[in-house]
Amino acid sequence: MFDFAPDPAMPKPQLYAELAASAEALIAGEPDAVANMANIAALIWLSVPQLNWAGFYRTIEDELVLGPFIGKPACIRIPLGQGVCGTAASTGQTQLVRDVHAFPGHIACDAASQSELVVPIVVAGQVRAVIDLDSPEAARFDKEDAAGIERLATVLARTFGAS
Ligand code: SME
Repeated sequence: MFDFAPDPAMPKPQLYAELAASAEALIAGEPDAVANMANIAALIWLSVPQLNWAGFYRTIEDELVLGPFIGKPACIRIPLGQGVCGTAASTGQTQLVRDVHAFPGHIACDAASQSELVVPIVVAGQVRAVIDLDSPEAARFDKEDAAGIERLATVLARTFGAS
């Protein structure tokens, strides 16, 4: 049994340090990327407050394809360069979007989403997947959230290997 019970009221640096440590423990010794993404989506959902969607899109050829997530059913395929996720994937840069309605080309999968954080998972210079968090609150995410999820992306990169 996995007994992770984070306190969502704890300071963000501490919350994300614990999240990264729990993620390391969860994926240790498990090579299946889908299983690891599924567990990490659940871990994020349990740890990070005020989310309505948390999950992954994987880079497959020239598009992103939906991966494990928690939230409402979402768009399955996103061309690279489109939307917040496609922009993160094509640039390799974290996208911290305080107001999704102000982001050109934002793709609305859940009308409740107001702000979004997308972090690429980069292995050997290639974006293999992105972590996507949506919130029903405007300006929910800040630089501490971005740094915390980037740390998680570094942990997750190991599950994709170097191929
Ligand atoms: N809003 C994203 C699409 C994915 S959903 O938020 C789950 C985007 O603009 O790429």
